[in-house]
Amino acid sequence: MKKDFLCLTDWTLEELEKIFDLSRELKAKQKQGEEHRLLQGQTLGMLFEKSSTRTRVSFEVGMYQLGGHALFLSSSSTQMGRGEPIKDTARVMSRYVDGIMIRTFSQAAVEELARLSDIPVINGLTDSYHPCQLMADLFTVIEHKTNYRDLTYCWIGDGNNMANSWINAAAVFGFELRIATPAGYEPDPQVMARAEKMGAKVIYTNDPLEAARGAQVLNTDVWASMGQEEEQKEREKAFANFQINGQVVAVADPECIVLHCLPAHRDEEITDEVIEGPHSVVFDEAENRLHVQKAIMASLMG
Ligand code: CP
Ligand code: NVA
Repeated sequence: MKKDFLCLTDWTLEELEKIFDLSRELKAKQKQGEEHRLLQGQTLGMLFEKSSTRTRVSFEVGMYQLGGHALFLSSSSTQMGRGEPIKDTARVMSRYVDGIMIRTFSQAAVEELARLSDIPVINGLTDSYHPCQLMADLFTVIEHKTNYRDLTYCWIGDGNNMANSWINAAAVFGFELRIATPAGYEPDPQVMARAEKMGAKVIYTNDPLEAARGAQVLNTDVWASMGQEEEQKEREKAFANFQINGQVVAVADPECIVLHCLPAHRDEEITDEVIEGPHSVVFDEAENRLHVQKAIMASLMG
């Protein structure tokens, strides 16, 4: 049976830890110039209905390093943009390529694509989740903190796709997560309820300093995600107090690390001083998208 990578809670802790092990191995091989052509002759189709720098480049380079090939397919240049249904795209793509990565709006569309494809489908971000980013984030935590366990994680900002993914990660990996959002911008209630059922330790607050106190990992994301551009002004007002800045870092653990999936809006959700400062690991985090996604692709398509 083919397997997909759509949402972290579809996978077990053991399976995700194996991805970290393979990521470590592939990263070391890449750094040492050792060949690791695990997907020799295979092709990944990459469907994009939203913009991307990291996701596009890391998947494409990752396929190349694994001995395969990647195709960039934007909605504006394919029939998808002219209304060809997902169910047809799924069956056509299954006849040509060995795996699909998709970045789009609705999680339901990605699930439909996966259901109707004969090949593995990877979620490269939806309005609901960004699971590849989460795996890269936790891999970065492991590199900087030796392991991801026994740490307190803090999310400050929007209850968006990244916040939902952190809640899923807290449910699967079992760490403590504190989420501070403005009232009215909480994460998806269904995601929160499912995590609670799974026994996740997640605390929700409207107080960023309370969430950050003593935390070892601080994390944020843009105030307005892709597709919410027209809400930017209104969100700037609502989120004015939800910034990772010197004051927030000062109440966190003195050895804390700061994550941001990027792209960042400096001096909005994070100050330039913090993102450029000694706690920030955002470029290691961006690099790790490559290594972790290679492990995900090799696990699904290899
Ligand atoms: N973090 C992330 O997914 O970046 P891109 O939007 O550039 O792909
Ligand atoms: N929450 C952001 C993440 C971008 C990588 C967005 O969806 O636009």
